[in-house]
Amino acid sequence: MTHVVTENCIKCKFTDCVDVCPVDCFREGPNFLVIDPDECIDCAVCIPECPANAIFAEEDVPADQVKFLEINAELSRDWPAITRTKKPLDDADEWNNVPGKLEHLEK
Ligand code: F3S
Repeated sequence: MTHVVTENCIKCKFTDCVDVCPVDCFREGPNFLVIDPDECIDCAVCIPECPANAIFAEEDVPADQVKFLEINAELSRDWPAITRTKKPLDDADEWNNVPGKLEHLEK
């Protein structure tokens, strides 16, 4: 089991989730974070930290977001670890809750 970062993180990347992770399982891309499913211990402390409500336990991922299980697993193999919270993307608040952001995912 793992936790999963889903679509609403794209173009927001608030990174509040990072500081609370006890096992440093977040990986950083240009405009999105993913969770390495091999490192996540399912502690769930990141869920309430995300201002975009983008993180779910695997079993709670909404049906239209299930593709993000594979996206997290795949991109976590290539992206570097992020272990400290940093400034969100400049227009994060404007993009929060905008639907259909998958097309903006930069790899
Ligand atoms: Fe993304 Fe939420 Fe973390 S927007 S970077 S999952 S705090």
